[in-house]
Order: sequence, then structure tokens, then C-alpha cells
Amino acid sequence: MPITQDAISTALDLPWVRSQFPSFAEKVNGHPAAYLDGPGGTQVPQRVIDAISDYLKHSNANTNGAYATSDRTNQTIAAARSAMADFFGCDADEVVFGFNMTSLTYAMSRALGRELGPGDEIVLTLLDHDANFAPWQALEERGATVRPVAINQGDCTLDMNDLARQINSHTRLVAVGYASNAVGTINNVKEVVRLAHAAGALAYIDAVHYAPHGPVDVRALDCDFLVCSSYKFFGPHMGALYGKREHLKRLHPYKVRANTNESPNRWEWGTLNHEGIAGITACVEYIADIGRRLKPSVPTRRAAILTAYEEIVRYERSLCERLIHGLREFPGLKLYGISDPERFDHRCPTIAVRIQGHSPLELATKLGERGFFTWDGNYYALNLTEQLDVEKDGGFLRIGLFHYNTVEEVDRLLGALREIVAS
Ligand SMILES: Cc1ncc(COP(=O)(O)O)c(C=O)c1O
Repeated sequence: MPITQDAISTALDLPWVRSQFPSFAEKVNGHPAAYLDGPGGTQVPQRVIDAISDYLKHSNANTNGAYATSDRTNQTIAAARSAMADFFGCDADEVVFGFNMTSLTYAMSRALGRELGPGDEIVLTLLDHDANFAPWQALEERGATVRPVAINQGDCTLDMNDLARQINSHTRLVAVGYASNAVGTINNVKEVVRLAHAAGALAYIDAVHYAPHGPVDVRALDCDFLVCSSYKFFGPHMGALYGKREHLKRLHPYKVRANTNESPNRWEWGTLNHEGIAGITACVEYIADIGRRLKPSVPTRRAAILTAYEEIVRYERSLCERLIHGLREFPGLKLYGISDPERFDHRCPTIAVRIQGHSPLELATKLGERGFFTWDGNYYALNLTEQLDVEKDGGFLRIGLFHYNTVEEVDRLLGALREIVAS
């Protein structure tokens, strides 16, 4: 049975959550906009917009000058580093800011690649976004060998036996996604890190898709690197990387001489997006405030973030169950990924489907006309759509649920889909 509206809406203060996002007032052809496109980028609360504009009004300058706005800029960056340290569960000097996840990963692959050559192996997965594949595959130019890990096609999970087989004494790096941005699978990254370390390899985690849906704890994972993008967790279009201090200090980035050798400055080249960085603090504070509202006695921002995610996970799971339950009634619909509610701990509420007789583009377009924002295509999870043989037919229709979505939106979406399929 699907969960009732009351059971779903209790713990999270949804009216407050929804009131934070000005874009929710948007309408399309008279229909209220339903943002189910969050895997491509979430909406932002007003405080993020304010932080960006306040920075530009009151602090706009370059760093390290002997005057007030430059000083404020230094403080803005330090505050965001501390916010992201609370988000990752690490120290502030282990946080590197960048343009986005892809460019941060290319930076890391170039630096790590300086140490690789013929005989060295890199383990990648066919479930991953191409941004955690192509930058490492590029190291084949240096003679390194890529070993791709297969997926279980039935439920779009990672084949952990294959992963264990691919890792050996030549493995230098294992790069794996925390969660699939196409089909929602959450990987057992802790086990991947353990296997990588047992072989003496580094573990690089792409947490871009996971970060808005679950708590990140880099110390508990013991990963060497973990990267995410703030525009996927209610912030500005930027990326942030966690690196173990020892690696950030030891590896050799390609950098301009003016960048100091201090970490993380040695990894942050040129002038950063200061206004975006101001927005990052605000989006982390937004998540922490969800936790503070749930439990006013939380002692630290980190504890508030973890409290927020406990409820976000529970609520999103209920929404996901309701959506999948409704989708199962559609004749000719194929759901890709984990569909058994007993196993929903292993998936995000990111749903990929195809409906016989309708291309994903047609469905997304018709939904878009009715105010439902969804995606069609491969979302750069190109190896996956090729494996599943849907690349040639337009990929999937992807419906992405977030803690700011409602039961009412899920039900309206199912109604709209029924109408589209029947017409
Ligand atoms: C799982 C995953 N990894 C990596 C990326 C690339 O992130 P960015 O746009 O920050 O480079 C995305 C973007 O959609 C993603 O979903």
C-alpha cells in the first residue's frame, strides 16, 4: 500500500521548507511548476540568492589585499571552507573549491597521472557518470590500463564480485560513484574503499548525486578523495572536493607559480567564484537549519546536518515508494534500478523509466507543458545507457524527487502521465 499523505508529511516542516525556495511560485501554462529535475541541479533557497548578491554588494574583491572588501573576501572563503568541512566531516584545509566536479576531477587525474605509467591499473565502473570515467580513462595516454567494472543489469547495481576481481596488486586507483544519477543506485562505497586500500590503491568517490540525499562522512568511509557539486544540494553552480591532507600535500598539481604551495591553495588556481563560495555557506546552513528545526538542541552544525539527513532520507524514501507504487500500474512501463521497497536503503529517489510507445523526450516534453520538470536522455551516464541498450532510443525518462517535493506533486505527476499515455 502507498503511504498516506499524513504519514509522509509529519516530521519535516514542509511548509517551511517550501517557503525557502522562491522558484516554487513559478507556473507553466497555468500549472504550478513541479521541480523533478533536481538530479540535473536543485533549486536554491532565498538565503543562497541573498548570500551571493550580498557578497557582490558588500565584499566584492580579490583575495589578500590590504583593505576591507578583500579582507571580507578572505573571510567569506574561510567560512565556506569550514561549512564544507562540516558537510564532509573533515578539516577545513582538506576542502578544495573548483568550477564543478568535472574540472576538479580532471585536475586530480592530471596530478595523479604524473605518478602513473605502463603496468599501472585504474578501476572504473560502468554505472558512473562520465565525469568519473573519462578523466581517468585519459590516463591511458600515459600507458595506464583501465579496468571497467560491470553492472548487474537486472537491478542496475554494481557487480561487487567483478569489482573485487578487477582490483589487484597493479591497481593504483579505484574511482566509483556514491550513487547513480541515472537509476538511483547507492553503491557500497565503504566496501569499495576497503577493497581499494587492501590492494594499496587510492579510492576516489563521486558523491555528486548522493550528497543531496544522504549524509557524507569521509572519515567513516576512509576514502582518499570525495567530490561533489553544490548546485546539486541547493547551492550555486560550483564543485567542492575533499582530499586527505597527506595526498593534497604530497601530490603535484599543475599550477601557476603565484599559487602558494600551501594546501588547499595549491589546488585552487586563478580567482575563485567568490560569490558562489558565499552561496555555499548559505546552502550548508540551509541543510543545518532543517536539522536545527527538527532538534533545537543539536550541539554543532555537523550534528545539525546529520539530523537533517536522517529525516530527508526517511521522507524521500516514502515519496519514492509512493511514486514507484504508482508507476507499477502503468502498462508497458519498465523501471530501471532497484524496485523492491525492502531494498530502498540502496537507492536514491531518482527514478528512470521507459514507457512502451512513448520516447523519453516525448514524455518529458508533454510533462514539461503541464509544469512537471523531468529529464530525458543519458545524463552523461553514457556507459550505463549503452549497456542497457537504451542509448539509441533516447535513454530514460528521469524523475528526481527531493525533500522539497510533496506527495501532492507525486500524485499529480502520476495523473499527468496517465493522461499523456492515454491520449
Ligand atoms: C553523478 C554525477 N557525477 C558527476 C557529475 C558532473 O558534475 P559537474 O556538473 O559538477 O561537473 C554529475 C552531473 O550531473 C553527476 O550527476
